Amino acid sequence: MAHAKNHQVELTPECSSPEAVRTGILVIGAFADGPLPSLSQKVDAATKGRLATVLKRGDLEEKPGSSILLHDLPGISAERVLVVSLGTPDTFGDRAFREAVSGAAKVLAKSTAKDAAVTLAEIEVPGRSYAWRLQEASRVLADAAYCFHAQRAKPAKAVRGVREITLLSSGRVSEEDNRAVHRGQAVAEGMALAKDLGNLPGNICNPSYLADTARALGKEFKFDVEVLEREDMRKLGMGAALSVGQGSAQPCKFIVMHYKHGGKAQPIVLIGKGVTFDTGGISLKPGANMDEMKFDMCGAASVLGAVKTAARLELPINLVAIIPAVENMPGSNATRPGDVVTSMSGQTIEILNTDAEGRLGLADALTYAERFDPACVIDIATLTGACVIALGNITSGLFANDEELAEQLLESGNDTGDRAWRLPMFDEYQDMLKSNFADMSNLGGRPAGAVTAACFLKRFADKYNWAHLDIAGTNAISGDAKGATGRPVPLLTEFLIARAENRARGTTTKVRAA
Ligand code: BES
Ligand code: MN
Ligand code: ZN
Repeated sequence: MAHAKNHQVELTPECSSPEAVRTGILVIGAFADGPLPSLSQKVDAATKGRLATVLKRGDLEEKPGSSILLHDLPGISAERVLVVSLGTPDTFGDRAFREAVSGAAKVLAKSTAKDAAVTLAEIEVPGRSYAWRLQEASRVLADAAYCFHAQRAKPAKAVRGVREITLLSSGRVSEEDNRAVHRGQAVAEGMALAKDLGNLPGNICNPSYLADTARALGKEFKFDVEVLEREDMRKLGMGAALSVGQGSAQPCKFIVMHYKHGGKAQPIVLIGKGVTFDTGGISLKPGANMDEMKFDMCGAASVLGAVKTAARLELPINLVAIIPAVENMPGSNATRPGDVVTSMSGQTIEILNTDAEGRLGLADALTYAERFDPACVIDIATLTGACVIALGNITSGLFANDEELAEQLLESGNDTGDRAWRLPMFDEYQDMLKSNFADMSNLGGRPAGAVTAACFLKRFADKYNWAHLDIAGTNAISGDAKGATGRPVPLLTEFLIARAENRARGTTTKVRAA
């Protein structure tokens, strides 16, 4: 929409010799201590050993992703050669690979060069295929080019950064290679949308803005989008979701997207928490860092991002995406602590703390999802501070009522480095949600806060396979680099891609090569 713009890099796989390629920056890898990878060896040979001599001086640090930039190397057509550290050979794996690519990507994003050629996907990673390396490298390179267009009086000057990146391969480029690069780029595109929505302030990105974004996606990719208004929600009995937004001047929106490319298959349903600003309501939050509660719609943003990626890739699946979009404000009409509301499921809830609002919107969305006879339902939510205490900013919390679904999501996280870790929902925890005045309270108390929140949701998700991702720690970074991360778009889209491939091949187990 108007404020959300980001520039893109074009990525193309190509088979040519690294020493001969005419480009602004040629990116090659080197271990701190070990033999040069094969394409780096070719470069060294063309320089008649000059590269190896320079590396022997020892300026390249061991940390994967650190780099040195060399200009005008003899025998090389590229203007510059960026040598990126791969760390040590014995510790080289997924993480060092991504860090190497990401270190290179950061240099490219700040360079005055217009184009680059990257050889890093040619480097073997234990247990990973060439397609995996290409897809991950492409996503990391495209994602690094993201830049939020902040609202400033003087717009930023023409920005630096490489716009065209060639991924060099030593063999002929196959269909599979092209697909891997396209996928990586499409995932980064979904992440960019998620980041833009997260980074926009609450006075712009309100429930109506999320609805407009969904409608715009539907128009661009030709799928149906419904937006239920307050009256529609009232008729459906969504008393829990409506109670969160009733203190705000911004009307609630219940957004439903229908992406249908999977024939008669049961749909995958994604539900994203869309609290466009969370003041806590009458149970007002403390003032410090409250601005970061503009990120409380990042579950919704990741759902919109995942839908965009799926649509860009024309994945052969049916996908329903649901976003209960509300603003949680105090006000004369706001919900009071102690109020009892009736959810769409008929279960009543005593609202003991108006700051435990995310679960209320999700509860009605989970009930609404029943009508789609889903293959599975996954909700994504910045749900609890307790999850941040448990897992920090590294790992999302995963809860599921189905083993296979949990496994698939954990694997999708592993494959993309956008990892989650499973936490329990033992029945014993349900006692913490007891209420004297309703079927349950919305508050479980301080111990196991992420778990009791999930146990609350579980009461509304008993009709289908369901998983819940608590992304309160992973959706955004605070401090100097404050901003949305685009997570868990990589995890979600990898899950969707895997499901699409299984469907196409008519198998039930995941087929993506390790
Ligand atoms: N949106 C917050 C959770 C959150 C906290 C997200 C920190 C990101 C960073 C959620 O609505 C909330 O306020 N949760 C409360 C629940 C409590 C009142 C049971 C919390 O975690 O403190
Ligand atoms: Mn809250
Ligand atoms: Zn919240």
